[in-house]
Amino acid sequence: MGFATDAIHIGQEPDPATGAITVPIYQTSTFAQEELGKHKGYEYARTSNPTRAALERNLAALEGARFSFAFASGMAAINCLMSLLKSGDHVVAGHNLYGGSFRLFERVLKDFGLTFSYANTCRLQEVEQAIRPNTRMIFIETPTNPIMEITDIVSTGSLAHVRGIRLAVDNTFMSPYFQRPLGLGADLVVHSTTKYLNGHSDGVGGAIMLNDDALAERLKFLQNAAGAILGPFDSWLVLRGVKTLAVRMEQHNRNGMAVARFLQGCHSKIKRVYYPGLPSHPQHELAKRQMTGFGGMISFETGSLANARKVLKSVRLCSLAESLGGVETLISHPASMTHASVPPEHRNRLGITEGLVRISVGIEDVEDIIADLDRALGGI
Ligand SMILES: Cc1ncc(COP(=O)(O)O)c(C=O)c1O
Repeated sequence: MGFATDAIHIGQEPDPATGAITVPIYQTSTFAQEELGKHKGYEYARTSNPTRAALERNLAALEGARFSFAFASGMAAINCLMSLLKSGDHVVAGHNLYGGSFRLFERVLKDFGLTFSYANTCRLQEVEQAIRPNTRMIFIETPTNPIMEITDIVSTGSLAHVRGIRLAVDNTFMSPYFQRPLGLGADLVVHSTTKYLNGHSDGVGGAIMLNDDALAERLKFLQNAAGAILGPFDSWLVLRGVKTLAVRMEQHNRNGMAVARFLQGCHSKIKRVYYPGLPSHPQHELAKRQMTGFGGMISFETGSLANARKVLKSVRLCSLAESLGGVETLISHPASMTHASVPPEHRNRLGITEGLVRISVGIEDVEDIIADLDRALGGI
């Protein structure tokens, strides 16, 4: 069936016991067993819970995957993904990752004997040069947060596979509606479901999707062993959210395009707009090839911290807040918020300057979003 149909129905069949049209929230920690070793498929809710299982089936279908595992946050999902590796293994990671992923790698996982190299994964040659004999995984975000750089998933996957390396893609920014990395050759996909999949800014969660049986078995083991699972109520919120993913993403995309064009027209105030849907984006053609839309994430350069501060202080409809992917427009300052844990020299090299502002364009009436930005930009 089509994407929107799958989003509404897979894992979300009417409840066989009562006919309830929405999946019940199985708010239980354990399940009564008929006799030793005889139960209805559920024993203890860390291992498996019917509401989480429904979500995992749904998310697997949306990413074109056979397996999916839901976690307490996007970071818990990324941490579990990295637990597939062993001390002494090396990872090539994108140089412009979400700050929390960089922090996990540098300040937690390094202490467990993993090593990381950061490469501009938009340039295949840089990825190749960063690979070592002990490289086991390439971990990328595409588009990146917040500079919106695009990595060619097909070529990176081929480069990885001939060397026996796995490719993992953080697909949070696009959601499976606009980009399905497994179909392009990635081995693992990870999401912060906190963002577009939930879509309503009312729950934190994460997920991993994949097709490989042996890896899935190991992840199932790790999910239960380490225990950072998504609870039943939060699973239900994501199930509720994904039902409207297709319509929301279409509107995020329409509004994103309109806001990006508006910002690009503000030549005297804005030095640069980062949005893969603009023909001026250096990787617009690649974006068109591997994505079916461009989404609602835009960054723009105001030239200074003072200017960024003025814009962020003057907006009224847009809320100054971390996070993204909700129905409401959020505006933020990556250098001091999402990417504060990235060292300043590294940030500056990437273009995450003090003047950079990021918007997660919501699905309000776009004229209202543009009017709000127009007024806020008037102050600079
Ligand atoms: C691209 C990306 N990946 C992962 C995460 C981490 O997700 P969470 O906040 O759900 O732990 C974020 C959070 O902002 C993100 O933007």
